[in-house]
Amino acid sequence: MDDRRIGIFDSGIGGTSIWGEIQELLPFEDCIYLADSKNAPYGEKPKEQILELSIKNTEFLLNQGCKIIVVACNTATTNAIDYLRANYNVPFVGIEPALKPAAINTKSKIVGVLATKGTLSSSLFHSTTKNHAAGITVLEQRGTSLVEMIESGNLESEELYQLLEGYIKPMLEKGMDYLVLGCTHYPYLIPLLKKMLPENVTIIDSGQAVARQTKTVLEKNELLSSSNNSGVHQFYTNGAVEVLATILESANAKHTVFFKDF
Ligand code: SIN
Repeated sequence: MDDRRIGIFDSGIGGTSIWGEIQELLPFEDCIYLADSKNAPYGEKPKEQILELSIKNTEFLLNQGCKIIVVACNTATTNAIDYLRANYNVPFVGIEPALKPAAINTKSKIVGVLATKGTLSSSLFHSTTKNHAAGITVLEQRGTSLVEMIESGNLESEELYQLLEGYIKPMLEKGMDYLVLGCTHYPYLIPLLKKMLPENVTIIDSGQAVARQTKTVLEKNELLSSSNNSGVHQFYTNGAVEVLATILESANAKHTVFFKDF
């Protein structure tokens, strides 16, 4: 048993979609979430810079005494998790586009992946595609500018709809029946996606799988909390506190949002 906190970081508010799943599955765990919104998007940055930012975020969370780190950012996972695992003495849980379930279930054998440049160009993504999607046509689509628009907090604008439709339509025309969301910001696009996708197209995101993996790793390392009280959750952002607070409004877990210029 270990009552220290779970640390979670992302390039901004997107990883709160992962936090929500973790909090639901592990309601007695305390969490600390770091939103590096000032440096979003990571997906357009060179690998060295993504690594540098991931190290800075990890050290912030470790200085807060976290017992495990969840890298709630696809771009940071694909570019930095091997380094983090090799250099820090806590377990890390990462997130990759959930290509496997899409590849198993697709009927058209055409799967779309919407992700950042940093994720799509990583070697981890390429090995996942090779290992889990043999015989499947994988349509890779960069979601350029989507993260910035989500970070601005306006999730319903016509501009965002048009931009997203421009990415989705060509994949639909090619016959995709599964759309994999390869960025933790993108689950916040699901309401818009539902308006533009026909019923036969299934959206897949990795949030629940990451929460299950976090639980498994905590169990295996005997790190589960001994508490029977609902967890306490602290959120730190170096961006707009109001945007993060608004996105968390519907969360029923006890939480506080702070500004910190890290
Ligand atoms: C980004 O910061 O570009 C997106 C984060 C992600 O890949 O999940």
